[in-house]
Amino acid sequence: MNDQKYLILGANGQLGKQFAKDLTSRNEPVIAPDEKDCDITSIDTLSRFIDSVKPNVIINCAAYNAVDLAEQQSESAYLINAAAVKNIAMLCSDKDIFFVHYSSDYVFDGLKGDLYTEDDIPNPLNIYGKSKRVGEEAVLSSDGKYLLFRTSWVFGNGAQNFIHKMLQWSQKTPVLKLTADEVSVPTSTIDLVDITLRSIDKGLTGLYHLTNSDYASRYEWGRYIAKKLSLHSTIIPVPMSTFPSPAQRPLFSAMSNELLQNDLGYSIPNWRDAVDQFIIQYPMH
Ligand SMILES: NC(=O)c1ccc[n+]([C@@H]2O[C@H](COP(=O)([O-])OP(=O)(O)OC[C@H]3O[C@@H](n4cnc5c(N)ncnc54)[C@H](OP(=O)(O)O)[C@@H]3O)[C@@H](O)[C@H]2O)c1
Repeated sequence: MNDQKYLILGANGQLGKQFAKDLTSRNEPVIAPDEKDCDITSIDTLSRFIDSVKPNVIINCAAYNAVDLAEQQSESAYLINAAAVKNIAMLCSDKDIFFVHYSSDYVFDGLKGDLYTEDDIPNPLNIYGKSKRVGEEAVLSSDGKYLLFRTSWVFGNGAQNFIHKMLQWSQKTPVLKLTADEVSVPTSTIDLVDITLRSIDKGLTGLYHLTNSDYASRYEWGRYIAKKLSLHSTIIPVPMSTFPSPAQRPLFSAMSNELLQNDLGYSIPNWRDAVDQFIIQYPMH
């Protein structure tokens, strides 16, 4: 697709910021409102905003991502991750706009014991995952043209990413405990944006798993970050049961990105290279 005008929803989050930055530097027309200017839970606001901007592509980066808090605030999680997504999908279909949306590895229960593919049946364990699954169903049943990407362990610009947290924790404590039985795929917003735009350009539609390549435990990911940033803390592996939390999380929710790599004819960087590239683009010291 050429000559696109992009509307980025949730532009103040990790992924939204990266889209705004990269599309601007590619000189692509982009409108990137934050929640204050365009609240996705108000269909009237959304519809008016879309009519005033007239995008050809809407990329929804807005989400309710507080996995533990969602157990108490299920209404907010479903409103943002499911009801609003249904409205965006409907508006895109009515107004002939291409819709790009992101879901999560947490739609799976983590019991497969192997990489999840697009053919696997979701079975979310927590409210966040359930709300994201209802959002997926709304996109999958929409009449419009869409790309629905599942991703995992997203790290992007901002203080909430795991790389930044590792740096902060290591300044406070000499010993860091990280889970060795919690496994997924760290995925950089830089690659999420790049691969999304490649997919749009290539005319792909439908459901894909979009992660960096390879997978890691939280412990392995943390050790790699510590090495790259020369952190001095000792890192020890622990089971996930060491940290009881309100939301149950899948143990092995790593997904295969093979279908997307094949359909794109492109080799998606592995997560270690993605961490290296991220640290260069967003220096931590
Ligand atoms: N982060 C991960 O590890 C992860 C893992 C798997 C999948 N994903 C998915 O990947 C996508 C991007 O995630 P991310 O990490 O970039 O998320 P993020 O950093 O949490 O950003 C989400 C953004 O959505 C905004 N938002 C919340 N409610 C809104 C509303 N009603 N209207 C408009 N904006 C609203 C938030 O604004 P406030 O800051 O004002 O709340 C925030 O800026 C999401 O679909 C997420 O579910 C993320």
